[in-house]
Amino acid sequence: MLENFPRYPLTFGPTPIEHLARLSKHLGRGVEIHAKREDCNSGLAFGGNKLRKLEYIIPDAIASNADTLVSIGGVQSNHTRMVAAVAAKLGMKCLLIQENWVPHEDAVYDRVGNILLSRLMGAETRLVNEGFDIGIRASWTAALDEVKARGGKPYAIPAGASVHKFGGLGYVGFADEVRRQEAQMSLRFDYIIVCTVTGSTHAGMVVGFAPDGRTRNVIGIDASGTPMQTRAQVLEIARNTAALVGMREIEADDIVLFEDYAYPHYGVPSKETLDAIRLTARLEGMITDPVYEGKSMQGLIDLVRKGFFPAGSRILYAHLGGAPALNGYSYTFRNG
Ligand SMILES: Cc1ncc(COP(=O)(O)O)c(C=O)c1O
Repeated sequence: MLENFPRYPLTFGPTPIEHLARLSKHLGRGVEIHAKREDCNSGLAFGGNKLRKLEYIIPDAIASNADTLVSIGGVQSNHTRMVAAVAAKLGMKCLLIQENWVPHEDAVYDRVGNILLSRLMGAETRLVNEGFDIGIRASWTAALDEVKARGGKPYAIPAGASVHKFGGLGYVGFADEVRRQEAQMSLRFDYIIVCTVTGSTHAGMVVGFAPDGRTRNVIGIDASGTPMQTRAQVLEIARNTAALVGMREIEADDIVLFEDYAYPHYGVPSKETLDAIRLTARLEGMITDPVYEGKSMQGLIDLVRKGFFPAGSRILYAHLGGAPALNGYSYTFRNG
């Protein structure tokens, strides 16, 4: 489906699929859990899901002759870290708007983890006191104008690289890759679990898994805490991406999004999120974070325990990255 779209390689290649044998055994119910390790996909600043998306966006940035990538996220945004890494790799400048999306206090929250890495890679990081919103923000459009006023040529990458014409393509490619790996492994996954916030990871998967009838087997776990907006954004991106790759219309019901795990707020872990992070770390040595992957892991664990997946189900947990943000939660984990 992606042959007609230029791709700028930023990742190592296909990401490994790892059987989480101890977690599967611990949870029981006859399900087999595997993780697709998108968190290990690149040597660029610890990698993560944004690189798959940026592989299809960067050719457009290069063609536009831009000299500055401009993007936006929360203070501990993984996405802005990835944009900073790509700018460094391409020899471009980078201006990042880091909004105050998370009502979480830790003495070094704006000094460590993702924002530390972005600064280290030479990005200009600007802290802006605005709350959580996955939509288009005034602070970001002002940053684009500012680069122009300075005589630069900005290239606009929205939050999560999602509401961009090519933002959904990377995860269409993910589905193709999973199909090839399934053939090699002689198995088929019944469910794919994905953490959903700005929406293009989930949307790309919905389009990518449509040819084999698995759109509704992609289970999004909302971590935004604003699920109506997230669901609408996933549907819109999925429809635009389907049109782009010449595929059938996506229905509203094709978007499966579980809303029960984002509490108490975007970026703030519940006790159950922390339990899921600790359990996965202790059984598998696999690190998840309090903002995204800990919540999708919490959802996966809860759904297994509730018997949502029939016995014999094979589940693929898409591990999308995000571990650097853990540094902003050092007090929470002071005793492990
Ligand atoms: C580690 C991690 N997991 C999941 C997500 C959610 O992906 P998306 O924004 O495409 O819905 C993000 C980014 O927002 C992320 O950084």
